[in-house]
Amino acid sequence: MTRRALVIGGTGMLAGCAAALLAEGWHVVLPSRRYAPIPTPAGSAGSARALWVEANWSDPKGLADGAERALGGKADLLVAWVYGPARPSVLRAVGPLLAAGAPVVEVHGSSSANPLLGGCPDPVLEDHPTQQVVLGFVMQNGRTRWLTHAEIAAGVLDAVRRALDGRPPAVHQVGEFRPYPVHH
Ligand SMILES: NC(=O)c1ccc[n+]([C@@H]2O[C@H](COP(=O)([O-])OP(=O)(O)OC[C@H]3O[C@@H](n4cnc5c(N)ncnc54)[C@H](OP(=O)(O)O)[C@@H]3O)[C@@H](O)[C@H]2O)c1
Repeated sequence: MTRRALVIGGTGMLAGCAAALLAEGWHVVLPSRRYAPIPTPAGSAGSARALWVEANWSDPKGLADGAERALGGKADLLVAWVYGPARPSVLRAVGPLLAAGAPVVEVHGSSSANPLLGGCPDPVLEDHPTQQVVLGFVMQNGRTRWLTHAEIAAGVLDAVRRALDGRPPAVHQVGEFRPYPVHH
């Protein structure tokens, strides 16, 4: 049976996460403004492929329509990295594309969420268990640096595994946080 994943923001720092799902045989749909190929891994299971859909968060309905066509069935997983004012409308627009009870993994940057300062924005899709991933920093040689894409993908994949295992919704911290607001 085909397992379908919608990965919003999946052509950027979540590309490694999309590639890992693809390698496990998922049909992965990636809406974004610019085409970015996710190579099909050698030896990946039969129907597995990544389909890119041209979409802009400023047109949530257009994004959902394109994603629906590319999914070809209800999605079993939503991974979302969508920020700013578009976030609630994009998540609401794609909600009906999900199978009943399908889990959501949402990724938050440290400018919109800080586990030490009161946590994450509330999940938007109440009918879907949501694992929230908050991206922090890495302390190295007395300085802080942003997480690498590989570190981000690994942290998000960990939350995906928990979501697919049916674990209770939780906030997952990747890297470290400072107890004061971060300004980039
Ligand atoms: N530690 C932290 O807290 C933290 C937080 C955030 C970011 N970062 C770092 O900052 C770097 C840059 O972040 P980024 O936000 O550029 O992440 P990114 O994941 O590299 O790119 C954003 C993703 O969202 C898509 N996207 C953006 N705006 C869109 C729109 N209006 N409509 C549709 N799709 C859209 C992009 O594709 P298109 O551009 O093709 O649309 C891409 O897939 C990351 O690589 C990461 O290392 C660190």
